Amino acid sequence: MAKTAELILDGKTYKLPVVEGTENEVALDISNLLEETGAITLDFGYKNTGATKSAITFLDGDKGILRYRGYSIEDLAAHSSFLEVAYLLIFGELPTTDQLGKFSGDIKRHTMVHEDIKKILDGFPSTSHPMGVLASLFCAQTAFYPESLDPNRSAEGVYLSIVRSLAKMPTFAAWAYKNAVGHPVNYPDNSLEYCSRFLKMLYALPAEQYEVDPVVADALDKLLILHADHEQNCSTSTVRIVGSSKASIYSSISAGINALWGPLHGGANQEVILMLEAIKKDGGDTEKWINKAKDKNSGFRLMGFGHRVYKNFDPRAKIIKKAADDVLNKLGVNDPVLEIAMKLEEVALRDPYFIERKLYPNVDFYSGIIYRALGIPVDMFTVMFAMGRLPGWIAQWKELRENKEPIGRPRQIYVGQQLRDYVPINKR
Ligand code: SDX
Repeated sequence: MAKTAELILDGKTYKLPVVEGTENEVALDISNLLEETGAITLDFGYKNTGATKSAITFLDGDKGILRYRGYSIEDLAAHSSFLEVAYLLIFGELPTTDQLGKFSGDIKRHTMVHEDIKKILDGFPSTSHPMGVLASLFCAQTAFYPESLDPNRSAEGVYLSIVRSLAKMPTFAAWAYKNAVGHPVNYPDNSLEYCSRFLKMLYALPAEQYEVDPVVADALDKLLILHADHEQNCSTSTVRIVGSSKASIYSSISAGINALWGPLHGGANQEVILMLEAIKKDGGDTEKWINKAKDKNSGFRLMGFGHRVYKNFDPRAKIIKKAADDVLNKLGVNDPVLEIAMKLEEVALRDPYFIERKLYPNVDFYSGIIYRALGIPVDMFTVMFAMGRLPGWIAQWKELRENKEPIGRPRQIYVGQQLRDYVPINKR
């Protein structure tokens, strides 16, 4: 007997089907609520609302669990590679050696971008934030691959769009940076693997020989794994709702890049470093800044702290915190803001304000410290987040299309003016 919940409205009882997931999550199916009761639900920020059923990523905010297709983030960060994780998220299973070799080879064959992309890039002043440039260049692929405008075309066509997305994202990202610093762009060197290929495009200069530091490439690969998917977060939900209108994969992901840019979401990693720098400049008084974060009137939040779902430690933050130590030691970098971050964490985690609200460091709290140690400029931190999140966005867009999910169109409760007569301007 299927489990149901009962709703009593105006003295009438309605039965709502109960949906249970493979990890025993429970939802009340309200698909017919309006038709049966005349009422809708209201849930600002969708804090209590499930938008879909998904088999891609599972997270448990109370237990600090994160799994991609059933594999723990700890295992994947320790043993996998970014392209292997991308394959897992998108196609559902870990690839064989041959499958990964073909996937990586297909990606290598598409790392170049049309020369006309440079004309678009030239239109952006060097003051342009790389995230805005990235979103634009990514969406511009609709112009160069018009066949992608049909998201339901052949499986081969969808695969080609997926490969092009993964292949060209690092090129767009590196070119957005070169545009910001006024350097000539570099073409991808396909003799290198994914992260090394990106780092060389990012840092190589015509006048110098550039060798990728394997410590930097490995650290970047781990960071991209940790950012690869996170179920129905703000930017992924944006990709899904744009994709639900049958928009192309490129325009759907471009929308996700823009959603990620916000300082409450992926833009937080940039804000964390700016915050830590401000605390350092202000003398490093962490208590003072903690008190400021607790003061509602200050308008200041402890960036990199708190999470909509994690009410325990963000498992990614734990891995990144350890990686930060390792990478800084290996590179011989002594970054004073790391000490400030650890002190801030220590003070916050024993403060009742943060304890009561279950505010812990999230993925963004330590990632900026590693990016900085890797020489990544602050304006590029959220671009790195987008590079990491790309396979998750692709996987979620693909799942939505394969499940033939309806166009997303939430309802509202109207609180504006009731019917009134038009008044001619000379009578107002
Ligand atoms: C990401 O969803 C995802 O999965 C996102 C992400 C992903 O992988 O895609 O994990 C990536 O976006 C991580 C979050 C990065 N953002 C930040 O670090 C910005 C700082 N954190 C927040 O602004 C906040 O915690 C959010 C946006 C992350 C979550 O916001 P919620 O769930 O809407 O919670 P809220 O704003 O309602 O806060 C609840 C309470 C409030 O206090 P009260 O009104 O109850 O008294 O906690 C307070 C908030 O004022 N609070 C903070 C705080 N975060 C929440 N107070 C001080 N500093 C903070 N950082």
